[in-house]
Amino acid sequence: MKKLVFATNNQHKTEEIRLALAGEYEVLNLNDIGCDTDIPETANTFEGNASLKSKYVVENFNLDCFADDSGLEVEALNNEPGVFSARYGGSRDSLENMQLVLQKLEGQHNRKARFKTVISLMLNGVNHIFEGTIEGKITQNLTGSNGFGYDPIFQPDGYSITFAEMDMAKKNKISHRAIALKKMIEFLKAS
Ligand code: IMP
Repeated sequence: MKKLVFATNNQHKTEEIRLALAGEYEVLNLNDIGCDTDIPETANTFEGNASLKSKYVVENFNLDCFADDSGLEVEALNNEPGVFSARYGGSRDSLENMQLVLQKLEGQHNRKARFKTVISLMLNGVNHIFEGTIEGKITQNLTGSNGFGYDPIFQPDGYSITFAEMDMAKKNKISHRAIALKKMIEFLKAS
């Protein structure tokens, strides 16, 4: 069976894709191929960072690969935190990251925001890009305890609860990541 690397160390994410592509691809992650490099994410776009990761695997392991990069874009903050989402507040602490966003939005009427995921799929030497976004707004306070990252301050359009109050299975169906992955899976199944 054709091999496809997912440039992640996250076992849970790997299992999800493995199930979705069962019978079509053997999905391996970085651990499976013995890649323990912390691949640099030095680009200033999601697409750039996802492509750095997928191309690193192709160049060093000669295997087809896909990688994702995600983050939060807040309209009134010129789409920050964007590629700096993981460490916006200075460290990798989610609470600090969220507090900085809330502080910067104090007195701001426009609280529109979106989560975005970009996937770079390097297949036979060609880079295919898939994008998923979910629009919403930044709440006034932190609410809910599910999920991770900015979930407690993000309320998706059409819902009156934050991602952190939403059932995880539901979030994983409607999220930016789910949308981008679905596009890639459809492309792989058709090609
Ligand atoms: P990654 O590229 O998936 O590792 O995401 C980078 C950062 O964006 C994470 O560390 C989070 O701060 C933020 N982020 C991405 N996706 C989500 C999400 O679904 N909920 C909350 N925060 C997210």
